[in-house]
Amino acid sequence: MKISCGTDIIEIDRIKQSIENLGDAFLNRVFTENEIKYCESKNNQKYQHYAARFTAKEAVFKAVSSNLKDKYSITWKDIEVCNNEQGKPYINLYGINQELFESIDISISHCKKYATANVVILQNELW
Ligand SMILES: CC(C)(COP(=O)(O)OP(=O)(O)OC[C@H]1O[C@@H](n2cnc3c(N)ncnc32)[C@H](O)[C@@H]1OP(=O)(O)O)[C@@H](O)C(=O)NCCC(=O)NCCS
Repeated sequence: MKISCGTDIIEIDRIKQSIENLGDAFLNRVFTENEIKYCESKNNQKYQHYAARFTAKEAVFKAVSSNLKDKYSITWKDIEVCNNEQGKPYINLYGINQELFESIDISISHCKKYATANVVILQNELW
């Protein structure tokens, strides 16, 4: 078993500008249907939540990529951020060999200007 961590931070304005300039093309390339539904439910605060999910995907990518044979085959939507009934976020992975990962824990925070995420992954050593 191996522990991998990943972290990321982003200015919320960068995501806001991408959404305003590129609209659905950007949203549908980066975020899953569930993520869009969650963020849109936050109305005026939605950019914080989109930015947080963007950083979460980057953080997961940092943690998993070194253990994948072809890290550039991962797409944004292969990493999905959901929230449980208490609001705690968790990660769903698609199109990635699940056997590699024993456990993934994610933590997210955002304020007016920045969003950040940290991930800790327990990885099975298959090779
Ligand atoms: C849940 C809580 C920690 C969120 O903190 P916050 O400062 O309001 O907001 P942050 O920007 O730092 O974090 C927001 C993120 O927290 C995460 N979150 C929400 N509920 C959570 C929970 N129960 N467990 C873990 N993470 C949670 C979410 O990912 C959320 O972002 P998202 O909605 O985009 O997914 C806070 O509202 C809370 O309940 N604090 C309790 C404080 C307390 O009781 N302190 C005394 C003992 S230390």
